[in-house]
Amino acid sequence: MKTVFLGIETSCDETSMAIIVDGKLVSHVTTSSAQQQAQYGGVVPEVASRYHLKNLHHVFLKTLNDANFEPRQITHIAYTALPGLPGSIHVGTLFAKMLSSLIGAKLIPINHLYGHLFSPYLEQQNLKIEFPFLGLVVSGGHTTLYDVKSIDEIEILNETSDDAIGEVYDKVARVLGWSYPGGPIVDKNYDETKADLKFVGHHSPKDQFSYSGLKTAVINYVHKLNQQQKPLDKIEIASSFQKEIIDDLMNKTAYIFQKGNYKKIVIGGGVSANKYLRTHMQNITQNIDIPLLKYTGDNAAMIVFYAYQKLFLKNELD
Ligand code: KG4
Ligand code: ZN
Repeated sequence: MKTVFLGIETSCDETSMAIIVDGKLVSHVTTSSAQQQAQYGGVVPEVASRYHLKNLHHVFLKTLNDANFEPRQITHIAYTALPGLPGSIHVGTLFAKMLSSLIGAKLIPINHLYGHLFSPYLEQQNLKIEFPFLGLVVSGGHTTLYDVKSIDEIEILNETSDDAIGEVYDKVARVLGWSYPGGPIVDKNYDETKADLKFVGHHSPKDQFSYSGLKTAVINYVHKLNQQQKPLDKIEIASSFQKEIIDDLMNKTAYIFQKGNYKKIVIGGGVSANKYLRTHMQNITQNIDIPLLKYTGDNAAMIVFYAYQKLFLKNELD
């Protein structure tokens, strides 16, 4: 029998759904409240939940329509159950549960971060999932290294003790007067010939990820120059910040990779779109799997893909 998996993602500001038929992605619709959030300089949870509430059924109808399916043909519903903004997760969960009880589809709660971890394997048939791998999720909410032994044996090796890397990018961009989300703007303005400022300096590669000190150092630097009415070289500040944070991320990742017996490093999450990270990570190993740019941010394709892979690899598709 054909399996028709519907994926639902509502953990933060994207409302997204996707359909996979017998393992193949046939439709994917995403809409985002990022523009509304921009006026507040970051994600306001209430704005995100209301946006999901308003858009979920439109996204559902378009996803079905694009794939030419009726609701009753859906056999499995995979939805983001954690982690995320509680209100946003509740709206998506309620939608998934109601739909499953109406049409009798099997309900599969998914950890959003595992979606990011396997996102490189969406539409990149040249890449192969090989265990064990070292997984790195870098996003607005997470900076986490995982020991991925199998599709569902996943252990945390290092995670941030304070701010997530994407959040720090957004705050640094904000103090420079750039809009939300600031990560892509900092990245776009990177100039390696101007990345010489040092804000915090050396961390041991054995340390836990921690970026709030770097964030505070950049913000204080900018405030000091403003108080002294000195000109700001935004490109120099953004470039130096980017080099310092990504170099630290890479040192810590390389340290754990070299100690372990991993086949490859697999990276996912919004910050995996970063150009400096994508090119320099290759210095650790050539065996790096990174998602296509369109699957770096939050999306339902990765949620439903992970759910399908999990059941497929464990022989539990029926
Ligand atoms: O994974 P994601 O879309 O949402 C969460 O689950 O958090 O990640 C969003 C984060 C934002 O902080 C955004 O600024 C950052 O990813 N980001 C980037 C880049 N593109 C997005 N950070 C650095 N460089 C980029 N090119
Ligand atoms: Zn995410």
